[in-house]
Amino acid sequence: PNTILTDTFGREHTYLRISLTERCNLRCTYCMPADGIALSPKSHIMTYEEIYTIAKEFVEHGVTKIRLTGGEPLVRKDVGRILEQLASLPVELAITTNGVIVHRFIDLLKKIGLKKINVSLDSLNNDKNTAITRRDYFTKVHDNIQLLVKEGFEVKVNCVLIKGFNDNEIVDFIELTKTRPLQIRFIEFMPFDGNKWNLDKLVSLEEVLKEVYAHYDAQSFIRLKDAPNDTAKNYQIKGYAGSFAVISSVTNPFCDSCNRIRLTANGQLKNCLFSTSETDLLTPLREGKSIVPVIQKAVGSKKKIRSGMETLEQFKDPDSHNNRSMIAIGG
Ligand code: GTP
Ligand code: 5AD
Ligand code: SF4
Repeated sequence: PNTILTDTFGREHTYLRISLTERCNLRCTYCMPADGIALSPKSHIMTYEEIYTIAKEFVEHGVTKIRLTGGEPLVRKDVGRILEQLASLPVELAITTNGVIVHRFIDLLKKIGLKKINVSLDSLNNDKNTAITRRDYFTKVHDNIQLLVKEGFEVKVNCVLIKGFNDNEIVDFIELTKTRPLQIRFIEFMPFDGNKWNLDKLVSLEEVLKEVYAHYDAQSFIRLKDAPNDTAKNYQIKGYAGSFAVISSVTNPFCDSCNRIRLTANGQLKNCLFSTSETDLLTPLREGKSIVPVIQKAVGSKKKIRSGMETLEQFKDPDSHNNRSMIAIGG
């Protein structure tokens, strides 16, 4: 049934990421420019009915997992209704949030059976966190992570590493997993519009492991088996309740096993995180046309690796791609 979701390299796209909004209650430096982004007009943002219609079509064609992203998905006013509707589909639902207001949604998330929550937290130091998010919510987010774990959610903490800024906290983050059953994921800093990326700021998978080897002896350090289509390479310190991982999109892309397709808040399909050309799904939907051929076109034109940025050299060239800011893609 999912032939339209199989690309020319034989990859089946069973994981849909839907961005619910371009807005956010934080201003992370790696995600958006200091002066913000030009928001899409409200009339160009998918309504909850449109989101449901599109999601249903994808699920009917073989999507088994939907992750809601943003911006911050929970700041969207009708997010409760969207969550409830999507939960009625035969699909695994997950959410990526900055954790600032997630405590308000615990009951709802439990009720609809959403278990997987990824929360961003880039430093365990209050001031550093404020510097990176340009807002002062460290304590709230830190508390909410504990709350989510206590309430039984499967929590992954996303930590984007930036050289000379938070890379001295790798061990501190890993130590959080000693008693808490959560996963810390160190993420290689990626380039997006307005985030002042350069390779010197990147902390690579190799560098993370070097730090780990320096602090833990070889016998206590385990390489875990990765889940199929995982973005992360997973590890654990023996005896620790949780685990840690590295997402190395820059130095070790995992495109061979990519099963992801993205829908932006303004209804554009992105067949890759790095794709610069998008496929307009919202207009044909509003015109009452079938969206199946549109989905097929987007999947069918997917490139093999990072939308054509196959080498690190290409990555370094600021003109090699012209993507949106992460806040408008949804990660
Ligand atoms: P799981 O569903 O738990 O595997 O989470 P995830 O890693 O897919 O999602 P999340 O929203 O937590 O993103 C964590 C990091 O992985 C972010 O930096 C994302 O940009 C990055 N990421 C997620 N999906 C992709 C992808 O398809 N390609 C690349 N290159 N990076 C991705
Ligand atoms: N590089 C790597 N990861 C990023 N994220 C946002 N911007 C970037 C970037 N430039 C991550 C955040 C968030 C996830 C959806 O994407 O950690 O948790
Ligand atoms: Fe998939 Fe593109 Fe990410 Fe590679 S870079 S894993 S092709 S979304």
